[in-house]
Amino acid sequence: MAVLDILVYPDPRLKQVSEPVTRFDEELHRFLEDLEETRLAGPAAVGIAAPQVGRFQRIVIVDVSKMRKPVPNHGHLILINPEIIEWEGFAVGREGCLSVPDYTGNVIRAERIRLQAQDPQGELHTWDMEGFEARAVQHEIDHLDGLLFLDRLVSRRNDLFRRKVYRK
Ligand code: NI
Repeated sequence: MAVLDILVYPDPRLKQVSEPVTRFDEELHRFLEDLEETRLAGPAAVGIAAPQVGRFQRIVIVDVSKMRKPVPNHGHLILINPEIIEWEGFAVGREGCLSVPDYTGNVIRAERIRLQAQDPQGELHTWDMEGFEARAVQHEIDHLDGLLFLDRLVSRRNDLFRRKVYRK
């Protein structure tokens, strides 16, 4: 296992659109272990997407079960080729990102989503999610499409906040 280097804004590679995963093999599983180790290294993040470590494939890990303030969740999720198939409601919430270490921002996201994704064996699953877990998934899927939360701010002046220490 290895901790991988995180691409940091304004690295232009963060704008790249990622390709679907087609091979669910040993090499993918080894990469998933490295991606998880990277997520947990340093300031453990609630999510990470493969393009953040320079692998431009549609792979996301999300786990909001360890939040200081508990939120509804489905535990630790490895999401391959994730697709949001239904949206409902809107909410503003604060987001951070391993690729934008010095800032947090207020972003509007759907409140509830229905999500479809494959697991590391290639099997398809569906989840209904709400609140912060739904937000985290939307944030990570954005990475797969070359978007950062910075691209979603309504106003850079009012919705962007500098931080001194990265916290979950
Ligand atoms: Ni991020």
